[in-house]
Amino acid sequence: MRVKALAALALSLGLGASSGSAAADVVGSDRGKTERGETSTRGPDLRGETLRGDAARGARLYESRCGGCHSVDANRIGPLHRGVFGRRAGSAAGFDYSPALRASRLNWNEQNLERWLADPERLIPGQAMGYRVEQPQDRADLIAYLRQL
Ligand code: HEC
Repeated sequence: MRVKALAALALSLGLGASSGSAAADVVGSDRGKTERGETSTRGPDLRGETLRGDAARGARLYESRCGGCHSVDANRIGPLHRGVFGRRAGSAAGFDYSPALRASRLNWNEQNLERWLADPERLIPGQAMGYRVEQPQDRADLIAYLRQL
């Protein structure tokens, strides 16, 4: 119940934030729009819940939007992402996390990733990732990609 309400909040926040929050500059890039136009195929719906994610599109989004700070196999500005799905938040070896994220006791399942990408600060106040993904479909595609790493 509480979780549902939070997810709905995060969703509406993500949708409504395009007109001038501090994060909008970073999030609403033109690159995203270009990529949006390329998408034509969707994988089969294996999850049957929320939006289905297209991992191939997620990989492209990852490169353009997350690649400035993250990589799959090395800690950079953000922690490495290999194996992140199902991993305990704040547990990549050798990465210097914020105390808030480290203490969160979250597990990176689909729902938590969705909430994180929509608004990290709302999910974990005091965390250190200054980036949000506004479009629900983009989040679903990114999560489908992260899931298979
Ligand atoms: C501006 C740099 C930046 C960008 C862009 C960015 N991140 Fe992050 N990310 C971070 C930082 C820094 C952290 C660590 C946050 C902390 O310690 O509180 C982080 C943490 C994470 C975590 C938690 C990982 C863990 O091991 O607990 C996930 C998941 C994540 N980012 C996904 C993404 C995805 C997906 C994108 C692209 C849509 C993205 N990030 C874009 C900087 C960034």
